[in-house]
Amino acid sequence: MNLNKNNPKSMRKLKYSLVLDEKIVKSRCFRLTKRITFAAFKIFTVIFLVVFVVFPLIFKYSYGLQCRVVFLNFIHVAYQSDFSQPQKYGLDGTRNLYLPTEDGITLGVWQILPENLVNSSETDDQYFENILGNGQDVVIYHHGNAGTRLTGHRVELYKVLRKHFHVITFDYRSYGDSTDVRPSETDVVKDCLHIYNWVSNRTSGNIFIWAHSLGTSLAMHSLALLQSKGIQPMGVFLEAPFNNMREEISEFPLARIFRGLPWFSYTVIEPLQENGFTFRTDNFICAVDAPILILHAEDDHVVPFRLGYKLYEEGLRCRKATQGKLIFHGFDGKYGYNHKYICRDPGIHNIIRNFVELAEKESKEKFGKRLIE
Ligand SMILES: *[C@@H]1O[C@H](CO)[C@@H](O)[C@H](O)[C@H]1NC(C)=O
Ligand SMILES: *[C@@H]1O[C@H](CO)[C@@H](O)[C@H](O)[C@H]1NC(C)=O
Repeated sequence: MNLNKNNPKSMRKLKYSLVLDEKIVKSRCFRLTKRITFAAFKIFTVIFLVVFVVFPLIFKYSYGLQCRVVFLNFIHVAYQSDFSQPQKYGLDGTRNLYLPTEDGITLGVWQILPENLVNSSETDDQYFENILGNGQDVVIYHHGNAGTRLTGHRVELYKVLRKHFHVITFDYRSYGDSTDVRPSETDVVKDCLHIYNWVSNRTSGNIFIWAHSLGTSLAMHSLALLQSKGIQPMGVFLEAPFNNMREEISEFPLARIFRGLPWFSYTVIEPLQENGFTFRTDNFICAVDAPILILHAEDDHVVPFRLGYKLYEEGLRCRKATQGKLIFHGFDGKYGYNHKYICRDPGIHNIIRNFVELAEKESKEKFGKRLIE
């Protein structure tokens, strides 16, 4: 184009052609936007269908997937785990051992001596066997899902517990170096029973239970079964417990994005119930004759405080006074203990000591009464 600013005709022509160009670009742009929008919509729909429809449906029909989500037993750092060297994790005076169960399973166990009995020149099995029978109080620790008996926050707790007890901690089947089979609630409870029997065969001291998270339900399930045979521990600590799986499942970090779906119950809650992942701690708590102390932090983001409190309320409702005291101890959210670190509370030693005293006093009163009867 022959541009000449002094020629008005030529300038008009230029303007006109620019407007025309703009129009073409605009309409092309519009078509492109439309195409992109449509493609994005298609992709979004497909993702939505896969994540929120197909995946829940697979979950509904896959027992294996349900199992993995509930137990999270595949989450651990195997390459860093050296179960045979507890001292690597700051636990001296600790023995690593393997216990075979009646149903062909082997359970990995640590026996952690009470702090006052640690003697670095004594490392043979016989010493450990003998010392378990010395009459000192024993606590059996039941860990929650994910990780193993050597996971950091658990080791941190053992160091607190060993100031008061002989500590026995173990991995349920499918966790850590225990036999790798697909777990179920019933089978894992068998592991708890086995450990309880193994300890009670060896100690003349009092047996306490400390359980965390999913472990609270497993421990209480096993204690309810023991109760039916007239066996009960001296006392039970439940750290961050929930009332039952039906209510807890929607709080699982993985489940949170799904719980708003109208089909959440149909694809997630009901199948878990039907397949026996019920974890009815709110039933077991009615059946166990032992004092129970519930510990729960207000800022717990894995097992909400209110579910621990619900369990407490259910216990208050159904337990008879003769079954032992039920105590709830909450921790203010401002301390940041969250799901795993109640053991960092500066008052934890007093809490443990007071509960042990209370449990032993209750037991004496009961035992005294039985003698009189
Ligand atoms: C530790 O064990 C050794 C060997 O049995 C013994 O001689 C020593 O007195 C023990 N130390 C303590 C502090 O008990
Ligand atoms: C405990 O002792 C009883 C009786 O001796 C025995 O039958 C049982 O197998 C033992 N249990 C464990 C887990 O050691």
